[in-house]
Amino acid sequence: MRVFEVNGAFGVENLKQVERQEPKPGPGQVVVRMGAASLNYRDLLMVQGHYNPRQPLPLIPLSDGAGEVVAVGAGVSRVAVGDRVMGLFVQKWLDGPFSAEGRASTLGGPLDGMLAEYQVLDAEGVVITPDHLSDAEAACLPCAALTAWNALFAQGRLQAGQSVLLQGTGGVSINALQLAKAAGARVIITSSSDEKLQRAKTLGADDTINYKEVPKWGKAVLELTDGLGVDHVVEVGGAETLAQSLTAVRFGGAVHAIGVLAGVMTKLPVTSILMKHVRVQGIFVGSRAMFEGMNRALTQHEIHPVVDKEIPFSEAPEAFTMLGKGGHFGKIVITF
Ligand SMILES: NC(=O)c1ccc[n+]([C@@H]2O[C@H](COP(=O)([O-])OP(=O)(O)OC[C@H]3O[C@@H](n4cnc5c(N)ncnc54)[C@H](OP(=O)(O)O)[C@@H]3O)[C@@H](O)[C@H]2O)c1
Repeated sequence: MRVFEVNGAFGVENLKQVERQEPKPGPGQVVVRMGAASLNYRDLLMVQGHYNPRQPLPLIPLSDGAGEVVAVGAGVSRVAVGDRVMGLFVQKWLDGPFSAEGRASTLGGPLDGMLAEYQVLDAEGVVITPDHLSDAEAACLPCAALTAWNALFAQGRLQAGQSVLLQGTGGVSINALQLAKAAGARVIITSSSDEKLQRAKTLGADDTINYKEVPKWGKAVLELTDGLGVDHVVEVGGAETLAQSLTAVRFGGAVHAIGVLAGVMTKLPVTSILMKHVRVQGIFVGSRAMFEGMNRALTQHEIHPVVDKEIPFSEAPEAFTMLGKGGHFGKIVITF
């Protein structure tokens, strides 16, 4: 089978297509023929060696993917040959609280990921694909969409009528936009591009802010909310956005700490957390139980994740370069 692996040294330039033996399922395992895989910012960091410089190589990258079960091992009854499935990003987080064991079981590093024609997974580590989704759409769910779901619904307990601030128009934020609107929330979204903000409006965004033109967008959010601030911030920027997020959040609101698009280390005004009773909640994707809950909501509302670009498997390295440039809206997907 054809796979892409990073070998020898980190870097997109070291992402090479090679042949590997087609996998056979062991007891309790399934083999999935991949239909599509999607890119997350994490995958780029992983290939560049910035996510985990000690990640052993070779590594097959990509956290997200969807396909069809083509073989099952002894004792598998959860799924059958012919089922359409998605991989669970945290293979060993089925339910309950997150754990160190879970963190060590993620696809696309440390475990081999989805940029392979076939992938062998634990039968417990796949989730049935909702019927209304193509493989390309389903490939957007396991990491980006589930992260948004965990933040807003599992941890955030979002209620209709609440307000949500989203940063930028990448995979997590656009999935969050669709989910938040379906739940009856008001959505304010930022972007560096007026064109992307316009596109976000067509998906239901209520208010938009260009964060390049309005660097103090935290204050702009307060103005949009009668000085109150938002109930939830989906914080994907990190170091350079956290202070603005703490301005934008309301008293008793939540900042869901998710991403590091704008850096990892920062100095923070601790007083703005404690004096506003802000809940800063770390989010690491989500469990299988959350994934299945999200799929019920996606089915109920017939939500289709936004696939911005589809790139053929053989051109996978180009997809990483594209993601790095940040021109996308929603998700970049690789089709097999
Ligand atoms: N904790 C978790 O479980 C988890 C899960 C998934 C992702 N993440 C993290 O979340 C972040 C987003 O991931 P993703 O896959 O959605 O990324 P992505 O699709 O690559 O998002 C890229 C977009 O983010 C926006 N952006 C970049 N810098 C920004 C800034 N300073 N302020 C506001 N927006 C900015 C830009 O949008 P515009 O072009 O519109 O400006 C850019 O196009 C990454 O750091 C990723 O590692 C964490």
